[in-house]
Amino acid sequence: MSNIYRVAIIGCGGIANGKHLPSLKKLNNVSLVAFCDIVEERADQAAAKYGAEDAKVYTNYKELLTDESIDIVHVCTPNDSHADIAIAALEAGKHVMSEKPMAKTASDAKRMVEAARRTGKKLTVGYNNRFRPDSQHLKKICASGELGEIYYAKAHAIRRRAVPTWGVFLDEEKQGGGPLIDIGTHALDLTLWMLDNYKPKVVLGTSYHKLSQRENAANAWGPWDPAKFTVEDSAFGMIVMENGATIVLESSWALNTLEVDEAKCTLSGTEGGADMKNGLRINGEQHSRLYTTEVDLKAGGVAFYDGKTESDADLEMRMWLKAIDEDTDPVVTPEQAYVVSQILEAIYESSKTGKAVYL
Ligand SMILES: NC(=O)c1ccc[n+]([C@@H]2O[C@H](COP(=O)([O-])OP(=O)(O)OC[C@H]3O[C@@H](n4cnc5c(N)ncnc54)[C@H](O)[C@@H]3O)[C@@H](O)[C@H]2O)c1
Repeated sequence: MSNIYRVAIIGCGGIANGKHLPSLKKLNNVSLVAFCDIVEERADQAAAKYGAEDAKVYTNYKELLTDESIDIVHVCTPNDSHADIAIAALEAGKHVMSEKPMAKTASDAKRMVEAARRTGKKLTVGYNNRFRPDSQHLKKICASGELGEIYYAKAHAIRRRAVPTWGVFLDEEKQGGGPLIDIGTHALDLTLWMLDNYKPKVVLGTSYHKLSQRENAANAWGPWDPAKFTVEDSAFGMIVMENGATIVLESSWALNTLEVDEAKCTLSGTEGGADMKNGLRINGEQHSRLYTTEVDLKAGGVAFYDGKTESDADLEMRMWLKAIDEDTDPVVTPEQAYVVSQILEAIYESSKTGKAVYL
């Protein structure tokens, strides 16, 4: 029988309540024992809904970390605090899941990687799109070599008008950027994972503040406040990897386009291609004829991990606890998440200087 792990949540807002807590609650080897938020009633509410009987509530994460009985900490705060909280938790002997992006800056992400190595504790990042059925199938296809050498890929994170207006998403200081660091990060993580290539060579990027200053703009979550919209509304990047492969990354919260696609990638290899736009489709050439096939994502459940049919979030949490329990690498390693942060930062830097960034 596996251990019962005592888990703490720091930051009891949208993603904690939407993903971490409901999925952790389903695991029978988890007890949710500590809840922290600078807004106390958010921690209170989460503790009342998901907490163990003896669950404690904190407004200061440093106090929470002094509880030696806590095994695992989930960091669900805005981007600028991921690194400090995660590093303090690792130093306090806890395993850590940090929400995405790993950190606001690449240097913070690097500090996190180093802290995990130094402490010997596990660290992962909430790239939950890797756990979708289509992502798992595509990963399996890529790993089998069916697509050959993948030398061109597109990472899609395009919204037409869906600017997050709650929390601090529009605040450059707190988040480090807009759609690129918020949703471009998912698409890029997915693409690098499919390519299994974490060696970027050169990055060129552009970012725009073209629609952010509109008053009363149409938006999925209601009009935004232009005065608070300090981050970009769209950003684009071209990444050339050491092995010559090209990745084009496109991200927007607001863009005049009908080509809306989020947390998806398109791959082109020497033996075949793949896209995730309408289901998962594989294309190629056989007997001098072109073919396109659609992968049946329902048949036989999801194959990549262990065949269980469960939500992406449930699978993400179950695999994380499994990695701790079996002392293996988590699906999302800190080293991989660091490269995502490095590339995103290079796109921002290039968009400011107009120059390519060599990594
Ligand atoms: N994986 C995903 O798809 C996904 C989706 C949404 C958000 N996120 C990430 O999750 C993080 C939080 O986003 P959210 O939508 O939950 O935001 P949110 O604003 O809804 O929640 C953040 C919470 O953290 C609290 N907080 C801030 N600083 C704190 C601190 N120092 N100590 C304790 N609590 C603190 C806030 O009071 C708030 O309740 C962000 O990094 C975001 O990128 C990931």
